Amino acid sequence: MHSRDAKFSEKDIPDLSGYVVIVTGGNSGIGYETAQQLAIKNARVYIAGRSQERVQEAIRQMSQSNVTKQLDLRFLQLDLQDLKSVRAAALRFMTEESRLDILINNAGVMTVPYKLTVDGFETQWQVNYLAPHVLTSTLMPLLLKTASSSGSSDRVRVVNVSSDAAFFGPKTLLLDDVNMTETKGVMELWQRYGHSKQASIRDAKELNDRYGSQGVTAYSLHPGIVRSNLQRHDPTVIGSVVRTLMKFAAGSTPLEGALNSLFCATSPKAPIMGQGQYFVPVGKLDSRAANWINDSKTNKKLWQQSEDLIKRLV
Ligand SMILES: NC(=O)c1ccc[n+]([C@@H]2O[C@H](COP(=O)([O-])OP(=O)(O)OC[C@H]3O[C@@H](n4cnc5c(N)ncnc54)[C@H](OP(=O)(O)O)[C@@H]3O)[C@@H](O)[C@H]2O)c1
Repeated sequence: MHSRDAKFSEKDIPDLSGYVVIVTGGNSGIGYETAQQLAIKNARVYIAGRSQERVQEAIRQMSQSNVTKQLDLRFLQLDLQDLKSVRAAALRFMTEESRLDILINNAGVMTVPYKLTVDGFETQWQVNYLAPHVLTSTLMPLLLKTASSSGSSDRVRVVNVSSDAAFFGPKTLLLDDVNMTETKGVMELWQRYGHSKQASIRDAKELNDRYGSQGVTAYSLHPGIVRSNLQRHDPTVIGSVVRTLMKFAAGSTPLEGALNSLFCATSPKAPIMGQGQYFVPVGKLDSRAANWINDSKTNKKLWQQSEDLIKRLV
């Protein structure tokens, strides 16, 4: 199932002086460690989040843990539950920065109760797939410009943090009912989570198909089973079981959970191994997503549907 081992630790991140990076959800869990490690390697890192207080507190903690080094960490305000705020954040960013080398779509929610956002989408669909798509798509001119001026075919990367839970969801996308209104039962929150994470895998592939030849490559990944705040949302019995299991199960640390993102974002091996592909920890290709990755007809439809929405909504 998994192919080609690639051992990778935070020590293998190359020097990132001159890089500008955005990590969504960098104030907590996997995103916190992802942002911190990139900043330690001299990147300017924007932590995109909905709470200025939580992001500033994370920046304060990272700075305190690295007192011998001046980390270049900044806050970018955005709420993935509000597409207008996502688009505004991207447009603001493009007036403030003249390059963007790496975008890590890390923020996410898992098994939250069914609720529509202000834009009319089920929360998990919007936070885990649609809003990251809007962010990436709006930032694309800057990503392309950075790629063209860098003279490198694989420096500029988009990384979608997906999940193996994608395989618990529907076999394919329900593009006529992305909110999955008909899905009921004990597993419905997981089904919707899996659905949103499938879209995130497909989106990375379609992005790579469209822009890889212009120097913007994309990747999707599973970070592992990681102890973080992610498990807090599910109000059902299954949620309690998962939280109890996580207390006793080994689980990875957030730093271990960040390694696959760091590999896809910075390792010279990632573009050689699998542009547009789905990676499991750490730096291994996983063929379980092949049916989705190779289904370019649905991937294009998903892309077009999302682009049409952007025009209509934001
Ligand atoms: N932990 C695991 O075992 C695991 C397994 C597979 C995949 N993943 C994926 O890994 C990613 C990171 O998860 P994690 O485990 O690090 O969870 P986490 O500790 O809960 O962090 C999630 C981050 O997403 C942010 N976020 C949530 N809703 C947002 C919104 N509307 N706008 C902006 N930011 C928002 C959170 O910000 P707030 O602090 O403001 O809520 C937080 O910074 C997620 O995409 C998750 O699906 C995790």
